[in-house]
Amino acid sequence: MKQFTSVHDVDSLTRWVNDAIAIKQNAQGFEDYGDHKTLGLVFLNPSLRTRMSTQKAAYNLGMNTMVINMDKEGWALEMNDNVIMNGRSVEHIKEAAAVLGEYCDILGIRCFPGLQNKEEDYSEEVLEKFIKHCGVPVISLESATRHPLQSFADLLTIREQATKPKPKVVLSWAPHIKALPQAVPNSFSEWMCRAQEEGLVEFVITHPEDYDLAEDFTKGATITYNQNEALKGADFVYVKNWSSYTDYGKVLTIGEDWMITNNKLKLTDNAKVMHCLPVRRGLELADEILDGPNSLVIKQAGNRVFAAQTVLKKILETNF
Ligand code: CP
Repeated sequence: MKQFTSVHDVDSLTRWVNDAIAIKQNAQGFEDYGDHKTLGLVFLNPSLRTRMSTQKAAYNLGMNTMVINMDKEGWALEMNDNVIMNGRSVEHIKEAAAVLGEYCDILGIRCFPGLQNKEEDYSEEVLEKFIKHCGVPVISLESATRHPLQSFADLLTIREQATKPKPKVVLSWAPHIKALPQAVPNSFSEWMCRAQEEGLVEFVITHPEDYDLAEDFTKGATITYNQNEALKGADFVYVKNWSSYTDYGKVLTIGEDWMITNNKLKLTDNAKVMHCLPVRRGLELADEILDGPNSLVIKQAGNRVFAAQTVLKKILETNF
């Protein structure tokens, strides 16, 4: 495996989850895998979980890590080819990525969408150019349209916590005041649709009208604008806000009545509640849920280490 940027890089979710469970049970048992190898983590946007869980995963494999907050500490990057760089940008991605590839054996990059131009964001220009020019294996730390390390940790959490062979998983849009990317819900949907194909879950998406995700990510999911209908009998409710895909990057409603509360949870089969974090309390999710027994958000964040460790181990095994 040369890259890890989406579920399309995974041959079998069932096998990958089993691999992650085995790694979690013996996290320090693979310390020689990354001996003298360096993981570079490049952030064009903020992060808590992705940064620290991926570093911890690398340490567990005996790797060195280097982190750069490129947006604050690096030179302003130029993404376009054949331009005269007489403006704000100082360094072209061609050189920046290639130089990082000289220092690191594996690179991770976080590059959020601008949410201004759908075609530009959905072409994954930054991620693709980074992959093209760095010359080493690349892991997405959340790109314009996907967050695969998060989705892998989410699936691992669902498999660990499930009390039925094929639990009902509901992705429920949440209220927010800011325009957020579609990367987490796109990615979660893509992974759950694939998990459904493998017989691991039943998958439903619910959101207000005009918040449909791109069809490429939701093929196979049941989609409804009726949240109460979706919640009936749910075993897991995955809560996430996203801005409109059709009216690209816009907040069309704050949607306060979409917040999951204990009252709404009564419709479910005592569902566990998930969120990738960070979460705005009292807006996206009720305090009573986050502080209550049904919240899985901390376990999810904990599993980010083992998802990342599984991916890194596979890349180390197949490339070095
Ligand atoms: N869930 C997640 O990716 O968290 P960070 O943005 O803090 O890395």
